[in-house]
Amino acid sequence: MSLLDDVKARLDIVEVVSGYTSLTQAGRNLKARCPFHSERTPSFVVFPERGSWRCFGACAEGGDAIRFVMKAENQSFSEALRTLADRLGVQLPSRRAQEAMNPLLRANEEVAKFYHRHLLDSEEGADAQAYLEERGVSQETVAAFNLGLSPTGWEDMKNHLAGQGFTDAQMLQAGLLHRSEEGRTRDLFHGRLMFPIKDARGHTVGFGGRELDGGQPKYLNTPQSPLFDKSTILWGMDVASEGIRLKGEAVVVEGYMDALMAHQHGFTNVVASMGTALTTQQVEQLTRLAKSYVLALDADAAGQEATLRSLESSWKGVDNVRIALLPIGKDPDDLIRQAPELWPEVISTAETKIEFFFRLVPPRYDLTTTDGQSEFLTKFSGWVTYREDAIEQDQYMERLTALTGLTRHLLEEALQLKRQSLLQAAASKTQRYRGPDKPLQVQVAAAASKQDQLEAYSLALLLRDPALKEFAEALRPEFFHESENREVYLKWAECSILEELRELVDAPLREHLETLVDRDFPSMDQKERTEALSHCVRRLEERHLRELRTQLGASLSQAQEEGIDDSLVVDELHKQDKRFKELFSTRVRRGY
Ligand code: UTP
Ligand code: MN
Repeated sequence: MSLLDDVKARLDIVEVVSGYTSLTQAGRNLKARCPFHSERTPSFVVFPERGSWRCFGACAEGGDAIRFVMKAENQSFSEALRTLADRLGVQLPSRRAQEAMNPLLRANEEVAKFYHRHLLDSEEGADAQAYLEERGVSQETVAAFNLGLSPTGWEDMKNHLAGQGFTDAQMLQAGLLHRSEEGRTRDLFHGRLMFPIKDARGHTVGFGGRELDGGQPKYLNTPQSPLFDKSTILWGMDVASEGIRLKGEAVVVEGYMDALMAHQHGFTNVVASMGTALTTQQVEQLTRLAKSYVLALDADAAGQEATLRSLESSWKGVDNVRIALLPIGKDPDDLIRQAPELWPEVISTAETKIEFFFRLVPPRYDLTTTDGQSEFLTKFSGWVTYREDAIEQDQYMERLTALTGLTRHLLEEALQLKRQSLLQAAASKTQRYRGPDKPLQVQVAAAASKQDQLEAYSLALLLRDPALKEFAEALRPEFFHESENREVYLKWAECSILEELRELVDAPLREHLETLVDRDFPSMDQKERTEALSHCVRRLEERHLRELRTQLGASLSQAQEEGIDDSLVVDELHKQDKRFKELFSTRVRRGY
């Protein structure tokens, strides 16, 4: 994950802004006296659900959290990003570590090719191919996932890479070699079926190797390295992100083979957790792409126990996560191979988080005693997010009544109390304001907006074709709501060629620039590119105006609700609103 992604995944606009000015609740939003100019009545508003802020007063400016810090600290984009990374405790990859990473990546890509060829072309490969065939893995899947075979020899891979100019030190750093106590180095993987492990961008950062001869362990994985951090990777994400986005739902399975088989049968929204409970970082990646999630995990007791724990930790606060129970002893891999038509049913009938809770948790408490009831209700109130709809709520109240024998009225009171004490505990722990109901919902919404495709697409177009510069005049920096995109745009406007732009941006932003440059495009001719760009500019402007309008509307109605002491703001907001209408009508006249 890049520094930028990492920081953005953890950013909380309310937390950032409240470090500078004191916020008060105003409906769904928060307001304050603007930290950037002096004023008596607050005209500065924070929109937690959008992760943005705006000053409707003298500044007449707004943006995301990074933009806020840039302004508050008078820092450049990269400086502000570092400031935030510091505060959030995100580790900065030092420049040196970043640069050292490239040869390691190249080594991995080279080895993946080497293993793949060895599987397809060598004598040893024939057995492994037969094994794959027996397990129903098609040739296309072998190619698509670049599966391979590590030679049984001790130094084949090492010699191959050495021949390509890689040093022992690099191979060790990439986790490709094993060093014995006497200091001799040899290949880490021997005679194993190799699954390249790719990050979300499709870079090979490590390998999982399955034994083929009963050896231990069943899977040997690349050790943790500057390149490979297992806790941030979901296996298959590089090919699954599109399917996940399209479906709006992500399915998490445990094993390489499970995800592989799912994709082979066209279930493209599946990623593998690689055998461990998901970390918060992995969950965040999913919440940025999808709205709902299904965990298709081992149905044995240990597996369910692990799922329970993970729902209480990494998945805490995420509502739309369901648990698919597979027949005991069956992997998704077995199921999909034997009866692919059953898979959609298994997924769609997965039980909700609350159902899962009710099945597993109550038997662990003695619900005949007051203490047991109280402990159980404490546990329960940690699970519900109080956002379920009324029917759902009614259903679980019924269940609680049946389980405890307490009356509805008593239960409601007890839960209300538990909920309050939970909120108090959370508030005193974080020592800052949090929305009453929905800290995580807010985070998720903010994260979703980070996937700003329109902005990225427009920039990628501009970067692709220098000739588009003259058509980009109508594009204004404030149309970009994500700071990193705004920055790239501003810098791009200053230079004439991509190389110059690369020089102009520093490390954290360069990484973002490269993802924009690397973006895949349908092939277009000059005319189509020009058209695509002007379409993008229109949509960006429109979106910008709409966003402004929504913000204005929200603040306006809030201010009016609160009455007199906000009259100045109301005036200002009315003025802004009028300007907005003017803008909009010129757009209509211009025929957009
Ligand atoms: P499984 O044992 O379920 O493996 O472990 P699998 O993927 O279904 O493989 P097959 O079907 O037996 O060939 C699930 C995942 O846990 C990790 C791997 O990522 C594996 O895919 N794992 C398992 C390890 O990392 N090491 C191990 O020794 C075992
Ligand atoms: Mn399996």
